[in-house]
Amino acid sequence: MSTILVVLGSARPGRVADKVLNYIKADVETRDDVTITVADLKEINLPFFDNEQPPISPDYTITNPQVAAWSEMVKSADSVLFITPEYNHTLSAIQKNALDSLGPDWNEKPATAVAYGWSGGSLAVETLREVLGHLKADVKHDIAQLGFMKDLNPDGSLLDEANVALQIKAAIDEIA
Ligand SMILES: Cc1cc2nc3c(=O)[nH]c(=O)nc-3n(C[C@H](O)[C@H](O)[C@H](O)COP(=O)(O)O)c2cc1C
Repeated sequence: MSTILVVLGSARPGRVADKVLNYIKADVETRDDVTITVADLKEINLPFFDNEQPPISPDYTITNPQVAAWSEMVKSADSVLFITPEYNHTLSAIQKNALDSLGPDWNEKPATAVAYGWSGGSLAVETLREVLGHLKADVKHDIAQLGFMKDLNPDGSLLDEANVALQIKAAIDEIA
């Protein structure tokens, strides 16, 4: 059984991220070899990065309990799937901070995303690939990019259910 950590990268009330999570759950329910754990960054409530050392330093020690819990979640998962909204042509601050907060835990971690936005979250995906690449994660190819007014309505409801399911399936296939 492979465990995927699904990370919600939005803290907004009524966030589209919750609907995307439901579409991911619908795919996972069709598989018998995959289980998911949900990491809601709003609930985990990480501090903005405030450690004296950068995470890549050999002297980096996690002292904050929320960061320690986040580290354990990433470490214990076989792979990570980010639910990635696009904010101002890049990642949401809450997701970037979650990436910044850990170092070696990302090393070789299989990672993918389901992104969304007016252009399918393409600019957020660009940053995500760069940051995860820098962190030496094993970034997968088939990141899902769901476009508003094409795949989803801006409230997250489905417009092209078949394409949403296909893209999410392709992303999960690579990390399952
Ligand atoms: C601060 C902010 C910046 C945004 N910038 C973009 C953007 O650059 N590109 C885009 O396609 N959508 C942008 N949007 C619209 C979001 O894609 C849309 O609000 C989406 O629902 C956000 O995901 P969430 O509801 O899960 O937080 C932005 C939204 C916010 C709140």
